Amino acid sequence: MIDLAQLELDLINAIGSAETATAVEDIRVAALGKSGSISGLLKGMGALSPDERREQGPKINGLRDRVGSALAARKAELEAAELEARLQAERVDLSLPARPRRRGSVHPTMQVMDEMVAIFAEMGFAVAEGPDIEDDFHNFTALNFPPKHPAREMHDTFFLKPNPQTGERKVLRTHTSPVQVRTMQSQEPPIRIIAPGRTFRKDSDATHTPMFHQIEGLVIDRDIHMGHLKWVLETFVARFFEIDDVQARFRPHHFPFTEPSAEMDIRCDRSGGKLTLNTGDDWLEILGCGMVHPNVLRACGLDPDEWQGFAFGMGVDRLAMLKYGVPDLRPMFEADVRWLAHYGFSAYAAPNPASGLS
Ligand code: PHE
Repeated sequence: MIDLAQLELDLINAIGSAETATAVEDIRVAALGKSGSISGLLKGMGALSPDERREQGPKINGLRDRVGSALAARKAELEAAELEARLQAERVDLSLPARPRRRGSVHPTMQVMDEMVAIFAEMGFAVAEGPDIEDDFHNFTALNFPPKHPAREMHDTFFLKPNPQTGERKVLRTHTSPVQVRTMQSQEPPIRIIAPGRTFRKDSDATHTPMFHQIEGLVIDRDIHMGHLKWVLETFVARFFEIDDVQARFRPHHFPFTEPSAEMDIRCDRSGGKLTLNTGDDWLEILGCGMVHPNVLRACGLDPDEWQGFAFGMGVDRLAMLKYGVPDLRPMFEADVRWLAHYGFSAYAAPNPASGLS
């Protein structure tokens, strides 16, 4: 008769010293597999007398159960250790700095838009949006463009094909000012918004591209005057260019949708072919602005005797060029990765007023 106690001892020892899940599996096959040692004992019971079977049966079954549990326990133990080793080896160190071998970068126009949004948001402006494809009413009529105003003509404006039913010709918006109209139509004053976005004009040279970006500002309340306009814009310029004592002038101008209208210039020096801001005898035009024309308020359903306000609009790409020394506007929209690698910003350098804006 085989020594069951010895067999159990041998198996348990072998299981205990098995170092891999495969080794455990080999022992399982050798003991409990089809022609395994314990399976052989169970099979052999048929040849025993009833008395012997009654005596041997529980012993062999017990042996099979204990060896089975020992195998399962050892297997679980080894699997847990293997997993632990893998987790250690494959661990990701989240404190590692990002790899500088980055491919993508943030376009200067978008960086500057984010800077502008951050500055105006701090002053309490909300961001508003409107469609790139506009109708004549929002782009021109509601903004007090007289019916035959030259800016409506083909040489400035991209017109879409006329609608065959109505004859209506939509336009690619020529400025962000239609967002003023949409905002006044959809919101009750007081209003304080900026509207960054794409704009389109038939123009192309070193300082003009058919698509460019503007940011519009609009403030409507009961007693807004040009002093507010001046303060907001001077504060903006001071933050944007990081200059303390902004030297600016407001030069009378004309826009159909503001009255009075002005262009804002910053003092600059152009000697030696280099542009320096806030010093010198020259002036650099940076934006258009004015008090919202009563006709515009009326077209948007506001009573000019009750509400008034100011608006301004500026070219974002131009200001990006100025701030970051980009010499030519055209390559800005050519999507050349080498240009972007040079002028682009890291996605981690998101502008925020607390950490500075350049
Ligand atoms: N929409 C004008 C432009 O594109 C800029 C502007 C906006 C001027 C708001 C005054 C007020 O030139």
